[in-house]
Amino acid sequence: MKRPYVFITRKLKEELLTPLFEMADVKMWDSESEAVPREILMKEAQKATALLTMLSDKVDKELLEQAPNLKVVANLAVGYDNIDVKVASERGVIVCNTPDVLTETTADLTFALMLATARRITEAQGFVKEGRWQSWSPFLLAGADVHHKTLGIVGMGKIGQAVARRAKGFGMEILYHNRSRHMEAEQEVGASYRSFEQLLAESDFVVCLTPLTDETKHLFDHDAFKRMKNSAFFINVGRGQVVDEEALIVALNSDEIAGAGLDVFYAEPIGSDHPLLRFPQVVAIPHIGSASVETRETMMKLCRDNIVAVIQGNKAKTVI
Ligand code: GLV
Ligand code: GLV
Repeated sequence: MKRPYVFITRKLKEELLTPLFEMADVKMWDSESEAVPREILMKEAQKATALLTMLSDKVDKELLEQAPNLKVVANLAVGYDNIDVKVASERGVIVCNTPDVLTETTADLTFALMLATARRITEAQGFVKEGRWQSWSPFLLAGADVHHKTLGIVGMGKIGQAVARRAKGFGMEILYHNRSRHMEAEQEVGASYRSFEQLLAESDFVVCLTPLTDETKHLFDHDAFKRMKNSAFFINVGRGQVVDEEALIVALNSDEIAGAGLDVFYAEPIGSDHPLLRFPQVVAIPHIGSASVETRETMMKLCRDNIVAVIQGNKAKTVI
């Protein structure tokens, strides 16, 4: 039998992938930091039995139709809006993601971003590092409290629930909006369901964790930001395209909201000239929600195990 061919779209640590090398010919894109060019991914897909992809790789209809041997795509992310899952299913290609293993790590980052935005941590660090700290003063870099405020979570999945658990420790009131009621979150942390509009009106921190779908694209538009309190903060750790970025810029410009903490952007990566970076009340980080060394290694191993399972004719662990 012909050995399976596996293409991995980034350079990963070989020792994390060992069993794969034993059972398949494995090729890795030769950069850890730069995405594989589209033409190369397309070429590799023509030969591949399995692809281990990043969220920055587009696995669309065009690619899938040119991949006759493809059995599995293992995406190193919980989100999978970069993959046309419908076309993959029609073609019998199994698509896997990395849920659960990144839940707590992503909730940590969400909380860190919320705290950093409210308490102006990055602005304050700039102040010290740039030598601007001349004296102490009572309102120097004074921000907003997080504890005992109202948190509104849009997209209450496992990550949302883990954020809510943290918020409970901060004495926050927890609201959420989701396609369907999340009884476990209601019972575990006392989260209360709200309509989207009502959540926006009541929350001091609106945290977006919803996946990107046709329904959630541009969910946060002019109207949404207008409904938020002027004192409220918008935190996005979901997907950039859930937000109409022009509307966010208008909302920040006209003080309709107090600030934003953003881990994700409409078109990533953004350059240093991106208009959102002009606002001191915006904290911007480069899509690092699940980026702890431990969790990224665990995610890689899960992708590996899913590919191994499919090659061996077994059931993958985390099929979408
Ligand atoms: C990161 O954004 C993920 O979907 O895992
Ligand atoms: C997905 O976004 C989740 O909350 O698990």
